[in-house]
Amino acid sequence: MTGATLTDKRIIITGAASGLGRAMAIMAAADGAHMALMDINAKGLDETIGMLGDATAFPIVADISDWNAVETGVKEAVDRLGRLDAVCNVAGWDEPGRFWEQSLEFWEKIVAINLWGTLYMCRATVPSLVEQGAGTTVSVASDAGRVGSKGETVYAAAKGGVMALTKSLAREMAPYNVTVNCVCPGPMMTPLLQAEMESTPKLIEKLIRAIPLRRVAEPSDAAALIRFLASDAASYMTGQVISVSGGLTMVG
Ligand SMILES: NC(=O)c1ccc[n+]([C@@H]2O[C@H](COP(=O)([O-])OP(=O)(O)OC[C@H]3O[C@@H](n4cnc5c(N)ncnc54)[C@H](O)[C@@H]3O)[C@@H](O)[C@H]2O)c1
Repeated sequence: MTGATLTDKRIIITGAASGLGRAMAIMAAADGAHMALMDINAKGLDETIGMLGDATAFPIVADISDWNAVETGVKEAVDRLGRLDAVCNVAGWDEPGRFWEQSLEFWEKIVAINLWGTLYMCRATVPSLVEQGAGTTVSVASDAGRVGSKGETVYAAAKGGVMALTKSLAREMAPYNVTVNCVCPGPMMTPLLQAEMESTPKLIEKLIRAIPLRRVAEPSDAAALIRFLASDAASYMTGQVISVSGGLTMVG
């Protein structure tokens, strides 16, 4: 199978209890993928699984910023899936605020989830992919990391790290026929953005004026790219960082 479909693929998706991770799980389920859905939010995972019809999907409740939880969760996922074709690192977190007013503990949490969480997931899953001599990893960063974002300085730094790790890991994994790519959403209508809008109510109008395609993304807009990169159709792509931003960012 070489098309942009995930039929019969064995996939781990983090962040699947909400927003983009949930949208990705729904798309993969429609293709007939088999999925381990990882998230810190058990109730949200159950809700997602309830939306997947007859698809094979099971929840793994784990905090991706905790190495022991990631190692145990990934082992369970790979054992139950039987093999691992794609890893979709979607989980992330942010709360905007002034750089100089945020506590160091808050910074540590941002970096722990967005950067360490992605590193841990790669560290725990790469041995299976290398052993198989096949597979792919798609990590979600953010356009904040590509072009900067006011009020999101530490988040942008962590997401910039996800982009950089994508490129170097892609070089390390290429000899094993394993690809590594990165998706950078712009503003996307998910609970993460909705929470930010509560603190800045005029944000959405300003965003729509600035976006060439004149709308904020739906989670399915970015999920469509993750699905493509996780499929065999993208088997000749690696080390790429791609935006889904309605044209808000156009970086050469
Ligand atoms: N929404 C946007 O505008 C936007 C823009 C750019 C990038 N992103 C990125 O897209 C990804 C998905 O975000 P979203 O908008 O769907 O947000 P969301 O809040 O709807 O979903 C994020 C999911 O990650 C999970 N999560 C958070 N911390 C975790 C942890 N420590 N361990 C395990 N799971 C954890 C949450 O429980 C939630 O289910 C994130 O990486 C985010 O940084 C979002």
